[in-house]
Amino acid sequence: MDPLEELRSFLRFPSVSTQLEHAPDLDSCAEWLQEKLSLIGLTAAIHSTPGSPVVVAASQHDPQKRTVLIYGHYDVQPPDPLAGWTTPPFQPRIEGGRIYARGAADNKGQILAHILGVAETLREKGSLPVNVIFLIEGEEEIGSPNLADFLREHREELACDVVAISDTAMAPDNKPALTYALRGITAMELIVRGPARDLHSGLFGGAVANPVTALARLLASLHDDEGRVLIPGFYDAVRPLEPWESEAIDKLEKTLGGDAAIKELAGVTELCGEKGFTTIERIGARPTAELNGIGGGYQGVGTKTVLPKEAFAKLTFRLVADQDPAMILAAAEEYLRNQTPAGVLLEIITGHSGAAYQSDPNSHDGLAARKALAGAFGAEPLLLRDGGSIPILATLKEILGVDSYLLGLANPDCRIHSPDENMLIENFLGGIRMNKILLEELAH
Ligand code: BES
Ligand code: ZN
Repeated sequence: MDPLEELRSFLRFPSVSTQLEHAPDLDSCAEWLQEKLSLIGLTAAIHSTPGSPVVVAASQHDPQKRTVLIYGHYDVQPPDPLAGWTTPPFQPRIEGGRIYARGAADNKGQILAHILGVAETLREKGSLPVNVIFLIEGEEEIGSPNLADFLREHREELACDVVAISDTAMAPDNKPALTYALRGITAMELIVRGPARDLHSGLFGGAVANPVTALARLLASLHDDEGRVLIPGFYDAVRPLEPWESEAIDKLEKTLGGDAAIKELAGVTELCGEKGFTTIERIGARPTAELNGIGGGYQGVGTKTVLPKEAFAKLTFRLVADQDPAMILAAAEEYLRNQTPAGVLLEIITGHSGAAYQSDPNSHDGLAARKALAGAFGAEPLLLRDGGSIPILATLKEILGVDSYLLGLANPDCRIHSPDENMLIENFLGGIRMNKILLEELAH
């Protein structure tokens, strides 16, 4: 079948992991993958977990060969806000050399490129230069809550020499890049509670603490005027950059030619953040506190004079090596409790966590990964620290003892997690070529 047709079929599943009503869609998407992986000649199985199933597929094992584990995820972020999409998120559309759909870049297009690369090699040569294991999960976008246990239980079956992942982006101007560092993450939700019920804001305003105001003050206390996070100890464990990393950042900044490209991608006229660091440093090498959602009070049309009973905010901290997610959560919790204004109660619900991850782009396998990118995309890859997170990477290192190399295929303007997410078709097809070279390069 035509690669693009296969991608279209994959993209039609609304496999949104954070919404329970999509559990059947995650199941059918996993079945589609298992069938696909079996058809190309691998032994593929679906493993159920307390959450979404994990799909594992392996080539015939040859003890003489190295083993490469290719990780990916078939779950996607919610398509909201729906009104932002030009065409519906789960009806893939091809236009202007791109395929548009939720999951096009994150991660269906990227993982399918690897599957199709393996399929082509098997078709052309009858065997692979390495043993391949695909590990494709359905809970990456919610912090992989069940994958660590799965890795522990299937440690032997998943034993490998190296992990390859395409779930990151290329450098600006769609230049190939090897991402050698990703930030960690830890999530929390705050609920500020005030009166027993919503009140008339004229009759009670001025006498009763307003939870929305209290929450706004609390959230404002997270940063100082220079963009630094005010939680005591927040920066204590941050590992300084090595000289070669600063060089890689300089090189990237020169290629970028200033902040214009990032402004353009973000759709803003001005960039801001922690003072004293460049934009690239702030995204890749500095930790942050970000609000992801906020609510409370009347949200309908027109006005309503209400003093709401509660307000909430969802936030995530992005972390870098060597910050410990549990310590950051504890420090944040203590700080936020101390900052809570009088007259309201603060409830904190903690969410998923994952440590930052780093691998060495100059190691034997790092150089192999760079050769594969150069071979497929015709230019020496840049070295990136990226701001996003793939929480399972640190766990893969801990449980399987192997390093992960991140060979991103997403175009920088792929609109990941946003409406009109898309993937450049040339990147998808380049990814198929890249997989073939990568397996050759990793064979030795
Ligand atoms: N593919 C992304 C991570 C990514 C994208 C890293 C681009 C670097 C560049 C992944 O699917 C993702 O979105 N991860 C989440 C993890 C979280 C929900 C636990 C993230 O980073 O927000
Ligand atoms: Zn994502």
